[in-house]
Amino acid sequence: MELIPLKENVGVEVRGADLAALSDDDFAALRRAWVDSGVMVIRDQALDGAALQALAARFGELESPPASERSARDGAGADEAPFVWYISNVVENGKPIGSLGAGEAEWHTDMSYLDAPPTASLLYAQEIPPSGGNTSFGSMAAALDALPAHLRAVIEGRTAKHNSSYTSAGELRKGAEAVNDPSQAPGVSHPIVRTHPESGRQSIFLGRRRNGYIDGLPLAESERALDEIWEFCGRDEFYYEHVWRTGDLIVWDNRSMIHRREAFDASSRRVMLRAQVKGDRPR
Ligand code: OGA
Ligand code: MN
Repeated sequence: MELIPLKENVGVEVRGADLAALSDDDFAALRRAWVDSGVMVIRDQALDGAALQALAARFGELESPPASERSARDGAGADEAPFVWYISNVVENGKPIGSLGAGEAEWHTDMSYLDAPPTASLLYAQEIPPSGGNTSFGSMAAALDALPAHLRAVIEGRTAKHNSSYTSAGELRKGAEAVNDPSQAPGVSHPIVRTHPESGRQSIFLGRRRNGYIDGLPLAESERALDEIWEFCGRDEFYYEHVWRTGDLIVWDNRSMIHRREAFDASSRRVMLRAQVKGDRPR
C-alpha cells in the first residue's frame, strides 16, 4: 500500500490497497492517513452498494442519509445496502434517482445540524459526466492555522448555530420553513474551534455559510465576520479539487474538512453511491 500526498495541506491518494481484503493493520494505517490528510482518494475500484456499505462500516457505526434525500431507487441503494444512497441528477420514470441534482453545491459540512454530525463521508463514482462536477475538499485545520488573529479572536471560545433548513444544493428541505433571520432560525450550536478527537488538531467548524450565525453577536457583526472567515477558508492553498473518473472512491473526514461541488451539464449523467458514519458531539 502506497500513500501519496495530493497537496501540501490536504489529501492523500492510496494506491495498491485491496479494499475487500484489508487486514486490520492495513485498515489502521489507512485510517491514520485519512485523519492526517483529511481526504483520501482511491482510484479504479469496482464497488456495489453492499461493498461500499461494508467498507464504510469499518470506519464506525453507519449513519442514515438525511430523510429528505432518501434514494428513489431500489437495488444497490435501498434494498441490499440500506445505508447507501444515491447522489445523482438522473431522472427515471419522472423521479430523480438521487439527490443534489446537477447544480453547484457550495462549501459545506455534511449534516452539521445534528448534535453529533457524521465522522466520515464516502462517495463512489459509478458514472461521471465528460466534464464539470469536480468536488473540492478544504482543510479547516490548515485554515485555522493560518487564520488572521483578528478573526481568530472573534471565534475563539464561541459557538455557531447550524441551521438545517436547506440542502447543500440550496433547496429548502421538505417541511422546513424559509429563514429570514439566521439568529432566530432553528438549529444546533457547536463550538467554532473544535478539536479532533483522534489527532488532537484544532479546526474551524462552521458548517456552511448560508444561515450561519455566531451565537451572541449582533446579526450584522456575525454576518460580517462569517463573510470574512468563509472567504479566507476558500483560499486555494487549503483545498484539493478532485476531477472524478468512474471507479473513484473518496472518503473525507467530515469533522475537519469542508467540501463543495461545481455544477455540470444537466443533460449528462452523474451517478454516485454515498455512505456515512455516525459521529460524536463536536468539542
Ligand atoms: C455529498 C456531496 C458532492 C458531489 O455527497 O455529501 O456533497 O460531488 N457530494 O456529489
Ligand atoms: Mn456533502
